[in-house]
Amino acid sequence: MTFDTRSFRDALGCFPTGIAVVTAASPAADAVPGSNEASHIGITVNSFTSVSLDPPLVLWCIDRRSRRYPFFATAPGFTVSILAAGHRAVSARLAGTGEHSLDGIALIPTQLGPPALADALAVFECARESVQDAGDHAILLGRVLRFARHDGAGAPLVYFQGKYGALAQS
Ligand SMILES: Cc1cc2nc3c(=O)[nH]c(=O)nc-3n(C[C@H](O)[C@H](O)[C@H](O)COP(=O)(O)O)c2cc1C
Repeated sequence: MTFDTRSFRDALGCFPTGIAVVTAASPAADAVPGSNEASHIGITVNSFTSVSLDPPLVLWCIDRRSRRYPFFATAPGFTVSILAAGHRAVSARLAGTGEHSLDGIALIPTQLGPPALADALAVFECARESVQDAGDHAILLGRVLRFARHDGAGAPLVYFQGKYGALAQS
């Protein structure tokens, strides 16, 4: 049986998700095209998932072919920012090939290092717990050391069938 990867991807897209930006330190900033001495990089992901409350664990998956993979896989920690509807342009930018730099993006500092996006709905500061190969992706498990929820950040940015959207309010 042949497996139609394009159709598989389209079927997976029927599962609506939120969107997060994950940031981490870039140990060799000038080795990352498009980055600079700010030494932090970001990536747009919709694979973010909660895993465990006790201990507090979350995960996300990264394509092992991504230029960002070596940095995220070896960084001691990462920060997850849950995007609001107003972050659409930031999401599109950090989903661009080679667009790793956080230059010009509104950020807020965190205690553990990698900055968070300003106006995120929630922020999770994580220590890297494990990196598990999973086919063409790797699963990055993070232990949440600090978190914040920002009331008033508004509606989430939503992704469904390859398009950005918003929650329908009842
Ligand atoms: C809505 C959305 C969700 C994405 N989610 C993921 C993800 O969970 N994991 C991943 O590795 N890439 C994801 N991507 C792709 C990356 O954001 C980015 O396009 C890719 O890493 C670019 O390749 P590069 O890292 O080699 O520059 C997503 C892209 C979009 C638009």
